[in-house]
Amino acid sequence: MPLVSSKEMFQKAYLGHYAIGAFNANNMEIIQGIVGAAQKEASPIILQVSNETRQYSNPAYLTKLIEAAVNTTDVAICLHLDHGANYEICKDCVDSGYTSVMIDGSNLAFEENITLTRRVVCYAHDHGVVVEGELGRLAGKKDDISISNQDATMTDPEQAAEFVERTGVDSLAIAIGTKHGPYKFEDTPRLDFDRLKKITALLPGFPLVLHGASSVPTEFVEMCNQYGGAIKRAQGVPEDMLRDAAKLGVCKINFETDLNLVMTACIRQFFVENPEQFDPRAYLGPGRAAIMAMAAHKMREVLGCSHK
Ligand code: 13P
Repeated sequence: MPLVSSKEMFQKAYLGHYAIGAFNANNMEIIQGIVGAAQKEASPIILQVSNETRQYSNPAYLTKLIEAAVNTTDVAICLHLDHGANYEICKDCVDSGYTSVMIDGSNLAFEENITLTRRVVCYAHDHGVVVEGELGRLAGKKDDISISNQDATMTDPEQAAEFVERTGVDSLAIAIGTKHGPYKFEDTPRLDFDRLKKITALLPGFPLVLHGASSVPTEFVEMCNQYGGAIKRAQGVPEDMLRDAAKLGVCKINFETDLNLVMTACIRQFFVENPEQFDPRAYLGPGRAAIMAMAAHKMREVLGCSHK
């Protein structure tokens, strides 16, 4: 099956009160783990790639890896640019076969964000590609973007409705208290569900997106630390909150930290337990299997997208 757009995925997810997992595809083993999980769970997926990952892997290598993933499975796969920082990056991804792009103008003033997003929408739609916009600023660290709690802003519901109307975006990333990276909450986790309900009420039928949604399982934080890591006071979004969000118009939920965490935990354990080993396949293989188990768990137990 060729790459597909997320349009139909989101329509079905909205009506079925579930969400599609958008997993950051940072290298071959991660891609294979995610796609293997989708195959096992018969689930549609979004493979998302940031520009930093495109540069790290070389866009040409990455495109071929994704092509191989598409050719070796029969599940629906959407290829999405995560956090496109400007028009040129989005255009480049549209031109090289991505079926969805995100333009992240969330650091701009409202009117400037609208102008930039509208420009990307015009180009992408002319080429049959869907666009995710962002309004509100998430705290946390993602690649080169680092935003402090003080600089973070929640999405204003009225502005969200106006933004969607004026830009023509196909989905919107909103800020309701999630955060990129492993350090999401200092005390009890809390998401602003009243705000989410207001946004959903003003945008009925419209797909919303949750970034910064990793749950940062204690089990894998402890495993990292037990085998030489130093990840302190990490805390993620409880899984039941993600399930609730999926029933309130959130159709795409992003995960990167959890994949990186579980793979690193696995590799750290391997190094400590097998000091004589030096073949990368010996530790990347178990890392890939751990990614697959983590992604399958999310599809089945959190997102509700298995067999959809
Ligand atoms: P996490 O850091 O919570 O995995 O979020 C990833 C993300 O939103 C990528 O855009």
